[in-house]
Amino acid sequence: MRKKIIAGNWKMNKTVGEALAFAEALTPLVAGKDSVDIVICPPYTALYSVSKAFEGTSVATAAQGVFWKTSGAYTSYVSSPLILDAGAKYVLIGHSETRGRFGVAEEGLTDDLLKAFGETDAGVNVKAKAALAAGLIPIICIGETLGERKDGATDVTVADQVVKALEGISAELVSTQVIFAYEPVWAIGTGEVCAADEANRVCGVVRATIESRYGAETASAVRIQYGGSMKPDNAAELLSQEHIDGGLIGGASLKPADFAAIVAAAAG
Ligand code: PGA
Repeated sequence: MRKKIIAGNWKMNKTVGEALAFAEALTPLVAGKDSVDIVICPPYTALYSVSKAFEGTSVATAAQGVFWKTSGAYTSYVSSPLILDAGAKYVLIGHSETRGRFGVAEEGLTDDLLKAFGETDAGVNVKAKAALAAGLIPIICIGETLGERKDGATDVTVADQVVKALEGISAELVSTQVIFAYEPVWAIGTGEVCAADEANRVCGVVRATIESRYGAETASAVRIQYGGSMKPDNAAELLSQEHIDGGLIGGASLKPADFAAIVAAAAG
């Protein structure tokens, strides 16, 4: 049995004050839900305060990204040791928004801008290795765009992202320390949720890809979250699927009651 993991990704939201008010409100709502791993991913600016606020509770924290160097002259970037020092246990890597897989045309900007800061598969791999070496648990995000889905390239896209993310990482680390989040890009922040059976099917592709590299035992140990418009009213169905071991929640993680309802759905 894989333990469910529910993570709230706040993205670029919440001041320190708002984050602390959330922590105070959430703590009693999720007390006793020990059958679920609960994670909050605040912006870097609130990571230390939120980690402190949840100390002694069952809620852990994650950074929303990481640089692969441990220290040095890398202006604006944040390393795994600094993230651990701020109190986090997990880190998101390869979120579609940090891969630059969103449109900027409406702002009159070009894709070049996104490519300049977007994460590549190779970047995801070096960051995952650096995080693991430091003792952080990476939540590696993967998923197809609407165009890739329409082209029938969902499975090959996702499998390729999985293989490239895990390059050079041992079976031992994969089975005990790595978490995947399958997030179809077209379902993120759009209110358009992927049907539960289809989300389960693609999470099964992720598991089969891990199995082909590492064997059945490792594949069956890895936790795979679904992300993309998960909400209190669709969480139970998604979380009851064979290959879905949790959720990565954006919009619905901003309100304590909504997030707690999803945790409750995972607790069963
Ligand atoms: P959403 O975001 O729940 O707002 O769709 C999910 C995510 O980006 O992790």
